[in-house]
Order: sequence, then structure tokens, then C-alpha cells
Amino acid sequence: MPIYRQMGLIPPKRHIVYRQPSGALYHEELFGTEGFSGMSSLVYHLYPPTMVKERGEPYSVRPKIAIEDNLQARSYLGFDLPATDDYLDSRKVLFLNGDMTIGIAAPRESMNDYFFKNADADELIFVHRGSGTLSTMYGSIDFGYGDYLVIPRGTIYRMRFDNADNRLQITESYSPVVTPPRYRNEYGQFLEHSPFCERDFRLPQNLETHDETGEFMVKIKKRGLIYPYVYNNHPFDVVGWDGCSYPYAMSIFNFEPLTGRIHMPPPIHQHFQGRNFVICSFVPRLYDYHPQAIPAPYHHSNIDSDEILYYVDGDFMSRNDIKQGQFTLHPGGIPHGPHPGAIERSIGKKETNELAVMIDPFNPVKITEDAISLEIGDYYHSWMHKNGVAV
Ligand SMILES: [Fe+2]
Repeated sequence: MPIYRQMGLIPPKRHIVYRQPSGALYHEELFGTEGFSGMSSLVYHLYPPTMVKERGEPYSVRPKIAIEDNLQARSYLGFDLPATDDYLDSRKVLFLNGDMTIGIAAPRESMNDYFFKNADADELIFVHRGSGTLSTMYGSIDFGYGDYLVIPRGTIYRMRFDNADNRLQITESYSPVVTPPRYRNEYGQFLEHSPFCERDFRLPQNLETHDETGEFMVKIKKRGLIYPYVYNNHPFDVVGWDGCSYPYAMSIFNFEPLTGRIHMPPPIHQHFQGRNFVICSFVPRLYDYHPQAIPAPYHHSNIDSDEILYYVDGDFMSRNDIKQGQFTLHPGGIPHGPHPGAIERSIGKKETNELAVMIDPFNPVKITEDAISLEIGDYYHSWMHKNGVAV
């Protein structure tokens, strides 16, 4: 996040003597996710962030691969995933490659007795159902329906949910999740034609400093294993911080769609990106306004990218019979396009209320056993016609 942010108490210069009222030094930590040259923040703790009391035995949450190589269009019913009490237990990876994982979660309970740290991946959490608060050492962010939460890897956090009905779509990225550089000028400011700008980001608020010692469980995820670490002090013991690395939220409803007289290609919907993938937001918008425009997309050959669509709400113009929480996976290598009848049906339509998140991994994804349990078996037949009618 190239927006500089400052909260709480910090000294006038970095790396100088900075003392607590007791006379003890505050403990400065440089927090960055790309060595010492990427975006980072300087954080001032009451206690050293290194005081490990106990280290428990790790356990595996590594996804089990069911299909290594795939060249078949597939679809999955995400809302068929049963809800699970615990946040970490509820997270299920459906697709993965060397750059990222793509999954879902339906947690019922807040994280009351532990904190979580993903040491592998930035997280991009899309809130499909539910609301609550993301708590971190940088402050907290309230979230609700339609929010993306971007959490840099290594951030210790806690999710609190307002009720038990929560549906999240979670993307993990082994590189920083960023906004498209083409939306920003050479100074990092969002350009006039960008579909969103600085005002649309919700940064951490209400920095609370917890001066507590005892036993604080942080579950740390590294290479698919969860390591239970017990720290001597509360991880949110920060009195102040400044910099450009911190979690933030942005609502999909703040993405301002770009429209035109004839069909605009998917890059106009781009919202985020990481190494070897992009994420697009399809939001309610006016359709193309050329008198003979075809609003539905043309068939297209995504030869060098898998395409994964996650349907959130509204009627999706190019598909028949799509449910909330449903995924489609259109693998790179074979063309795909609107379902039978969708092109004719779209002609003359003025607007759409569709809401969806599209994730395009440039390297092929493997499919997990958890995905197989949610799969609609015959989806790849869904473009077949018989006398002009889909069979
Ligand atoms: Fe597509």
C-alpha cells in the first residue's frame, strides 16, 4: 500500500533512543514483507516481539491434491461447504499453484483464544457473508458484506465475527497483493481514470496498546504447517507505528466500473494483482450503449491463464443457473464463453446487477480434495446445444 500512514506515538527520527515513561526503551521493529527494500512499517512495542515462551508441535493443514493436471471446465458450489466453528479449521483451499492458493471459509466463531499469523502468504479475504472486526497490532478494521481485506504476510491478526453466519473467499499470495501499477502515477498517486482512489481504502483505526504479559498463543502458518507458539506478551503491545505496510479494507462497491459503447475486455475490471495472477471485480454497471452492442462477452481463448470466477450476487449475464458462492474454473488452453442463449438474451439490456470476483492465475492450478467434494460433475457439458437448446 503506497500510502504513508502514522498512528500513535513515534519518535521524531527512526532508529534513535525512544523511552517509555518508566525509562525503559520502546522496542522498534521494522516490519516488511520484501526484505529491507519493499513496503515496510516501523513499529514501536512495549516488549520485544521475540519473547517466545513455548513452541508446540506443528500440525499439517497442507491441502491434499486430487487433480494435478486439468484441462476441463469445472464448477463448484462454495456454499455447500459445511460451516465450522474454528476460523482456521474452516479455511479450505480449493485450487493452488506455486504463486497462490484460492479457497473459502465458513467460520462460525470468533478467534477468542489465539492469534493467527500467515508467514507464507499475503491474504486477500473477500467477505461474502457476515461482519465483524479484524484486529491487528496496527489497529482494527470493521468489515462487512462486499469488503476485501488485504493482510500482508506476517501480520498477526484476530477475526471477530458479529454472528455465526460467515462466508469468506480467501486468496493467499506468495508475493505482495497490490493494486495495478497502471492505475497510479510515477509518484504512487491514483490516476483520474483509475476505478478507485485513496479515499476508497479503509486503513486501521483505534490503535489499542495491550500491556499484558502471560501466555498468548499465536498459530503461525509456514509451508502448510501450523506452529503453535506461546509468547510472553500480548502481540498487540504497539504504542505507535508509521510506514506503508499494514492491513486495509476496500469495499467491492467502491469499485467504479468503466463502461463503453461496445464490449470492454476483462482488464477494465482489474482490482488487484500479485506475481502471476490478477483479481477483477465485476460490479453492477450500465451495459454497452452502441445501438447494436452485444453486452455479453465474446467467446475467448485464455490460452495462457486459468480463469476462476466466484459468483457473489445478482444474475450473471453470461451464465445460466449460477448460484451464490459458486465457482467456475475455465482452464487455460481451451476457449470458453457465454452459455447457450446468453448472447441473444443480453442484446438490448441496459444494465446488470451482477457481482463477482474473478481470479486469473497465469500458471495452471491444481485441484484439491476439498474442491472435489463441492464439484458439479457435468459442468463441462454446459455449452452443448440440441436444436438450439442447451442439453
Ligand atoms: Fe472468461
